[in-house]
Amino acid sequence: MYFLEFNNGVEIPQIGLGMASVGSWQQDDEYVKEVVLKAMAIGYRHFDTASVYGNERALGRAIKESGLPREELFITSKVWDTEQGGKKTHDAFARSLERLQLEYLDLYLVHWPVPAYTRETWEAMEALYQQRKVRALGLSNFRKSDIEQIASFAEVPPVCNQIELHPYFTQQPLVDYCQFHKIAICCRSPLGAGSIFKAVEKEARPDVDPVIVQIAERYSVTAIQVILRWNIQQHRVVLPKSEVLDHILSNFLLSEFNLSNADIQAINNLNCNKRFGGDPDFVRKRNMMMKVPD
Ligand SMILES: NC(=O)c1ccc[n+]([C@@H]2O[C@H](COP(=O)([O-])OP(=O)(O)OC[C@H]3O[C@@H](n4cnc5c(N)ncnc54)[C@H](OP(=O)(O)O)[C@@H]3O)[C@@H](O)[C@H]2O)c1
Repeated sequence: MYFLEFNNGVEIPQIGLGMASVGSWQQDDEYVKEVVLKAMAIGYRHFDTASVYGNERALGRAIKESGLPREELFITSKVWDTEQGGKKTHDAFARSLERLQLEYLDLYLVHWPVPAYTRETWEAMEALYQQRKVRALGLSNFRKSDIEQIASFAEVPPVCNQIELHPYFTQQPLVDYCQFHKIAICCRSPLGAGSIFKAVEKEARPDVDPVIVQIAERYSVTAIQVILRWNIQQHRVVLPKSEVLDHILSNFLLSEFNLSNADIQAINNLNCNKRFGGDPDFVRKRNMMMKVPD
């Protein structure tokens, strides 16, 4: 397994299982638990959930049932837009821990920037960090201006920014900015398969792009493995979501080949600024209407 070291010394496994919409949106049952247990049996130790995904309980039950030592696992959750603010963030974190049946989180993220609440939210997260209830604090979907806002007051700097990133949406200027400031990049929706609510048609996805298909043929791997490997070699974390055993397995088997610099560049060149998921400039209203289940 590959690890990346955050700016506070904490190590994160570079491959994690994306947990949004496992089964369906906010499904939190035995099926979700079984998917997590399957992934754990394959070797996954990193799981990316969020209060709004509504499946923290199933993940918590899988953790208990797996019998894996807590220190072997890397568990991320996120504070949702409606939970932002000082006391609200403190309470939201406590609820996430309770649902997950955990004593601490490895990583807690601000799910989306809500600039009016960023300072209160972050300061509440810093207090949780000082109390050692979370090992690292990070951001998600933050633009450069949102990161500059955090930098103006934060005592604990963010360790990462989880953003949409795939061959058709490489966000290079934001990636360069983050990496220059020692903020690691975690790639959400790394396959460019669409948003959680709206799948992209198969023929429009990067894994059928002739450039990627040809590279995959050369290494005798799948196009999706090439896309994930392209991120790993550029020091980024990937969070593919899958509930199909073959997919969960092949998404994890990325150590058998090394892309050349020319391959990496060829994939970089596919960028066409095609965003499939939510845009931080426009999602706030929609997010505020989305409820976090108990
Ligand atoms: N921070 C945020 O705002 C945010 C937003 C969106 C997502 N995320 C994170 O990113 C994770 C992934 O996002 P996502 O679901 O949007 O996109 P994704 O992981 O890029 O794509 C998931 C889709 O690809 C399919 N898939 C996965 N592996 C495959 C394989 N080897 N072969 C063929 N198909 C495969 C999955 O279907 P099967 O299940 O059938 O394999 C699913 O339909 C989420 O679960 C979440 O953790 C975060």
